[in-house]
Amino acid sequence: MTIGIAVVGYGYWGVNLTRNVAVAPTTELIGVVDPGSDRRELAEMNHAGISTWESIHDALDDERVQAIVLATPASTHVDLALAALERGRDILVEKPLAETSADAAKLRDVAADNGLVLMVGHTFLYSPPVLRLKELVDQGDLGAVQYLYSQRLSLGRIRRDCNALWNFAPHDVSIMLHLLEEPVVEVTAKGFSFIEQGIDDVCFASLTFASGIGANLHVSWIDPRKTRLTTVVGDEKMAIYNDVSVDQPLWLVDSGVAKDRDLGEYESMSDFQWRTRSGDIVIPRIEMSEPLKNEITAFGEACSTRNAPRTDGDHGLEVVRVLEAIDRSAQANGRPMEVPR
Ligand SMILES: NC(=O)c1ccc[n+]([C@@H]2O[C@H](COP(=O)([O-])OP(=O)(O)OC[C@H]3O[C@@H](n4cnc5c(N)ncnc54)[C@H](O)[C@@H]3O)[C@@H](O)[C@H]2O)c1
Repeated sequence: MTIGIAVVGYGYWGVNLTRNVAVAPTTELIGVVDPGSDRRELAEMNHAGISTWESIHDALDDERVQAIVLATPASTHVDLALAALERGRDILVEKPLAETSADAAKLRDVAADNGLVLMVGHTFLYSPPVLRLKELVDQGDLGAVQYLYSQRLSLGRIRRDCNALWNFAPHDVSIMLHLLEEPVVEVTAKGFSFIEQGIDDVCFASLTFASGIGANLHVSWIDPRKTRLTTVVGDEKMAIYNDVSVDQPLWLVDSGVAKDRDLGEYESMSDFQWRTRSGDIVIPRIEMSEPLKNEITAFGEACSTRNAPRTDGDHGLEVVRVLEAIDRSAQANGRPMEVPR
């Protein structure tokens, strides 16, 4: 069974989502909504025979549309998603789920109260290297995770409707939450704006997870080098996930620090020795597939089976809570902020 889909928003990302809705085994592309006539013409040209509409309400009047994929700017997510949910449609909302945790919670609750699927487009949780990294963490290959950090940097795709934090960091926060399966309790952050006052182009944030694990993230759209890097340091091994690498996206590094047992008993702190161990690097074989196609396939599956997707409303809400706290800390010049539960 395939699910009839209307994609709402045919901008930069909507084009990619629509292409995948058209080919994923669980979905059927019914049509595209965009207020721009040039965008609708482009959609008709790329996908012969589909319907196009100017407003989401017209698409929701069409009985063939069973579910919505929402790819409009974040400021419009809450109203458009509510419109779809109130008309009984399952929905995939692009990241971030909403601009505030109150709005994200409202969407999660309305979907749950009406038994509807709410999925969030946290694409990286459908990316094979991230899933493999999660397996390594879960199987204990790294030992106990000590800390992790993430860098998402590029020169460009500068937005004026949100800052670099809200544009890039949903991915990093989503990956970290998925890997550790525990909430972030506190954050500190600094943001810097260069292009337009009040819109941070760069953000450095430190996160503390419930068990005490520390994390750092650095996002920027003014950087000399495109970087998509997540490093996880365990007490036995370390992992480096480099999304920019085509053939080696994941490294498992057999390095660490250990007390030097060869020295025998130590009697004072000055005798206490640590030694670093620098071992082999293993590059796990990963069956690659397009994350966005996997994501759309999972959305169609969730609509058919009614099982919650991996990136459900709870996950989307948790990501927004962390981003909101990071933004508050950055605005307060780095004051630590609790992430409210
Ligand atoms: N998952 C990812 O990796 C990823 C990557 C890029 C963007 N995104 C997300 O996708 C969303 C869209 O980003 P984008 O870069 O494509 O933006 P964009 O500005 O390029 O496109 C947005 C489109 O939405 C249309 N639109 C605006 N209001 C509308 C409305 N009320 N009804 C229907 N269409 C409307 C605009 O005309 C435009 O064509 C954002 O939430 C963004 O964060 C996700």
